[in-house]
Amino acid sequence: MPYLNQQINWLLRDKYRNKITPAIKKDIIRLKQGEPLDYIIGWKKFLGCKIDLSLRPLIPRPETEFWAEQTIELIKKPCHCEPRPQGPRHDNPELCGSLNPEIAASLSLVAPRNDKISCLDLFSGSGCIGIAILKHIPQAKVDFADIDKNCLKQIGVNLKVNKISPSRYRIIPTNIFKPLLKTGNYKSKMASEVEPLKTYHNIFANPPYIGLKNKTKLQKSVLKYEPHQALFSRQNGLYFIDQTLRQAKKYLKPNGQLFLEFSPEQKNAITVLLKKYQYAKWRFNKDQFNRWRWLIVKID
Ligand SMILES: C[S@@+](CC[C@H](N)C(=O)[O-])C[C@H]1O[C@@H](n2cnc3c(N)ncnc32)[C@H](O)[C@@H]1O
Repeated sequence: MPYLNQQINWLLRDKYRNKITPAIKKDIIRLKQGEPLDYIIGWKKFLGCKIDLSLRPLIPRPETEFWAEQTIELIKKPCHCEPRPQGPRHDNPELCGSLNPEIAASLSLVAPRNDKISCLDLFSGSGCIGIAILKHIPQAKVDFADIDKNCLKQIGVNLKVNKISPSRYRIIPTNIFKPLLKTGNYKSKMASEVEPLKTYHNIFANPPYIGLKNKTKLQKSVLKYEPHQALFSRQNGLYFIDQTLRQAKKYLKPNGQLFLEFSPEQKNAITVLLKKYQYAKWRFNKDQFNRWRWLIVKID
C-alpha cells in the first residue's frame, strides 16, 4: 500500500495523540485490509468542523468541502448586483474555475446580512455541509434531510460535537423532499406530526449520483465500506438530480438558490434537465481538480 506509512502517521496523530498503544496494532491491520482511514480514526475535519463518522455515513469528500466553502463565502458576502440570465451561453470555463466576481455578480442573495438565512441540507449524510453553514454563518438556520436513520442520528451527534444550538436546526427524515414519519429508535410520531419542509433561501444538495454501470470504477474500499445508499442512483446516476431539479422550485423562496453537486460527465444531461424544468439562471462550476462538479441554480 503506497501511503500506508503516511496513513499510520495520521492515525497515530489523530486517534492516539502520538502515543503508541496495543490498540493501534489492530487499527493498522484494519488499514491494511483497506478500511478507510477516516472510519478508523472516527472523525474528519470539514471546514473547521469536527465530523464524527462513528455511525458510518458517507465520508465527506474534499470536492464537497471545496464548493461548500465557496458557497459560505457567497452567502457571507452577498453581492447586490442585479442577477442576469445564465445558461449555456455563459458556460465559459474561464469564468467558472473558481468563484470570482463574475460568479458573484450573477447572484444576489435574498437575505440581507442581519436577517435569518434559511437553509436546507438535502441528502445531508453526516451533516457536514449544513454544520459548516451553521458554524460559519451565525444568522443561518438549517433543516437537515436524509432518508437514512443512521445518518439522522449521526447528524444529531455532529451538531452536539460542534456545539450548535438546537434552536438553529431541525433534523427531518425525508424521501428526497417528502417528509417521513420518525420511526424506530429515532422517535415515534403520529402521521399528523410529520415535520414539513418549508421554503428556503438556500438548498444544498449532494445526492447519490454514481450510475450503477460505474460501480466497477470505484475504489474497492469505497465499495466495501461506504453506504451504497449514499453513492448510487438509477438513471445513470441522474435519478436524484432529476428529482431535485424537478421539485426544488417548490421549496425555494423567491430569489432562492440551489447548490448541487454532480459528477463531471453529467453536465450535459443536467443542462437538458435545467431547460426541461424551465430554470432561467444557472451556472456550472469546477472543483479544485478542474472538473465540472457543482452547480448554482437561481430562481426568480
Ligand atoms: C452523497 S451522500 C451526501 C452526504 C453529505 N451531504 C456529504 O456531502 O458528504 C448522499 C446522501 O443521500 C441520502 N439519500 C439517499 N437516498 C435518499 C432519499 N431517497 N431521500 C433522502 N436522502 C437520501 C443518503 O443516505 C446519503 O446520506
